[in-house]
Amino acid sequence: MKKPYVICHMMTSLDGKVTGDFLAAPEQEKAADIYYEINRAYGADGYACGRVTMEGSFTGGWRPDLSPYDPSAEDWDREEDFVRKDPSGFYAVAFDPHGVLGWKSNHIRDPQEDPGYHNARIVEILTRQADPKYVAYLRDREIFYLFAGEREVDAALALQKLSEKLGIQKLLLEGGSVLNGAFMEADLIDEISLVVCPAVADTRDKPLFAKSSMAAFALAQVKQWDEGVLWLNYKRNNGNEIHE
Ligand SMILES: NC(=O)c1ccc[n+]([C@@H]2O[C@H](COP(=O)([O-])OP(=O)(O)OC[C@H]3O[C@@H](n4cnc5c(N)ncnc54)[C@H](OP(=O)(O)O)[C@@H]3O)[C@@H](O)[C@H]2O)c1
Repeated sequence: MKKPYVICHMMTSLDGKVTGDFLAAPEQEKAADIYYEINRAYGADGYACGRVTMEGSFTGGWRPDLSPYDPSAEDWDREEDFVRKDPSGFYAVAFDPHGVLGWKSNHIRDPQEDPGYHNARIVEILTRQADPKYVAYLRDREIFYLFAGEREVDAALALQKLSEKLGIQKLLLEGGSVLNGAFMEADLIDEISLVVCPAVADTRDKPLFAKSSMAAFALAQVKQWDEGVLWLNYKRNNGNEIHE
């Protein structure tokens, strides 16, 4: 199957958690800086996040008013994907099975204008459960979307379409726990990049992968900083290479 090379890039606690207060603690600022620096250094063609992470980082939970949209009045095929290659070649891929995210623009507007996120063209990954009115709203805003799955997201199909239709070769998978788990369980991750913070999380915080199946990785690189931050980089044994 043709698919992008997928790097799961995350900040974790010492106990492998990816949510919680430690992420925003002032003493972990160095780790956050390193995380964003590594994101930029990868020079990926895009980044993928689950619906919850997209809400937390970019949409703030805003939901669009769908009442003005009447899909039956439109002349486009409701079953069809809506994408074309963006001149930037840089995409923010939102795994949003039910189609709920409220975007005010078809590009990411990062408050810090971080080049690792800012101005990425948004691509929604939907299932057939998405309300046709939501699909009409996306179309009206020229927000790209791809269908992958009937009731649940078929992550492998989504990756195949991202590769074939948009030419994405290198994709950062940046959380959260649920989306990472769906990729790990389906064995779609080629590389893991962990910025480990010198902190232990709370019991109720979420693990790197909400679901998984056994997979072996080989250590590729380790870096350490005086502030106690570690970067651990692993590659999948017999993993996919970047497709040209
Ligand atoms: N440490 C880090 O580096 C880092 C990075 C990113 C995020 N985070 C943290 O992660 C947290 C969010 O993670 P999360 O695990 O709660 O949510 P998430 O993975 O961001 O999003 C989960 C949602 O994505 C949708 N989804 C997409 N594909 C799916 C699939 N194959 N299977 C199931 N659901 C799928 C579902 O939306 P519906 O419910 O609408 O169906 C699901 O509820 C936040 O607290 C954020 O701060 C940490």
